[in-house]
Amino acid sequence: MSLRETLQAELARVDSAGTTKREELVFEGFSHEAGHAPKALIKGKKYSIFNSNDYLGLRFHETLRKGEEEASRHFGTGPGAVRFISGTLKVHKELESALAAFHHRESGMVFSSAFATSMAVIQCMIKGQAKDTKVSDNTLVVSDELNHRCIIDGIRVANLPKENRLVFKHLDLEDFRRILDENKGKFKRVVAVTDGIFSMLGEYQDLKKFCDIAKSFEKEFEEGVVTIVDDSHGIGAFGKSGRGVEEFCSARCDLLIGTLGKGFGADGGYVVSDKLMIDYLREASPTYIYSNSISPGTAGAGLASVKLVDSAEGKKFIEKLHANIASFKKKMKEAGFAFAADSIHAVQPLLIGESVKCRNFAKALFEEGFIATNLSYPVVTAGRDEIRVQISAAHTEKDIEEFVSAAVRAGKKTGVLG
Ligand SMILES: Cc1ncc(COP(=O)(O)O)c(C=O)c1O
Repeated sequence: MSLRETLQAELARVDSAGTTKREELVFEGFSHEAGHAPKALIKGKKYSIFNSNDYLGLRFHETLRKGEEEASRHFGTGPGAVRFISGTLKVHKELESALAAFHHRESGMVFSSAFATSMAVIQCMIKGQAKDTKVSDNTLVVSDELNHRCIIDGIRVANLPKENRLVFKHLDLEDFRRILDENKGKFKRVVAVTDGIFSMLGEYQDLKKFCDIAKSFEKEFEEGVVTIVDDSHGIGAFGKSGRGVEEFCSARCDLLIGTLGKGFGADGGYVVSDKLMIDYLREASPTYIYSNSISPGTAGAGLASVKLVDSAEGKKFIEKLHANIASFKKKMKEAGFAFAADSIHAVQPLLIGESVKCRNFAKALFEEGFIATNLSYPVVTAGRDEIRVQISAAHTEKDIEEFVSAAVRAGKKTGVLG
């Protein structure tokens, strides 16, 4: 078989499995109507968006737009080079300082995305020295079994032997403790890594317990245990002031990774930590050293957003999001829907249970003018197929009521509701 035939066969396999991703919905624009969150325009029709990571509804906020426009006018449209050549602009430095301050850390570092951040941070923490091209086989990585793909790839790229990569059962921190205990003294360094919020079900890792367990084994390994948390879905959306799962659990990890592309309504990824860690990462991170940072406009929007979220106005968005989540859950339960997990995050997973029914339900919702994401095996456990609804502070009570009514009609039509 030729390469083209092999690729064709793979595409056919994906299509027949019903997991095609390339037929993407194209938003031609947005409709902004009083009393509603912005709606997507698709083939001339308006759709309510219930599957966006823009949890605070900030992507159309005037403050962010102004920040973006001013930075773009001042610094141009692109960074011009990677950071260490000539691509470090004042707006990048201001954004990094604002992120560090927001998370009560000494230093911050911005990447093109959270994916690129995790890839770099994890492999750099696994490696022995910045200049090492050989991976240290003295490092043990311990990771939650449902961690995001960027964490998995960050571990993979470090090319550790299998016995140096151990996985604990999802959210089972006693299993995490067991692994550390069984490996006491066997490795020089441990890298413990987890998502903050898990985006399929909206669950959170108990970071207080995670960090406490990690630190209780600090002395059992020559270089200790370093904790890395990717809280891309939590920051902005979780915790009283939007500082994520760390805030919610009163915890503090060694390296906190986030994105500007979800709750903050802009784009790009970042890590915050103490100065030494960040200095080291600037010397060692391949996706930072050899790849452009975010554009000046995006950095300007991100900076405006971090300041906004940290203000009295920002707090109102967070409160509105939390009120919307509670209202949605209550109304959907009253309407007879079941949830795949009891999430208090903006990710609200409706349990449908069966893949064809799930697909039909998502389609029926779409015909009603609502977009939510259909998640089926292997993304979720077989038989636990779900419709992932994502709530935003931009949703109005009317949007939520209209979603619930549409879901009831779609549910009756497709047999999801009796
Ligand atoms: C835990 C986690 N990390 C990283 C990302 C990717 O973020 P970005 O789009 O900034 O690369 C996601 C997005 O789904 C995520 O859930």
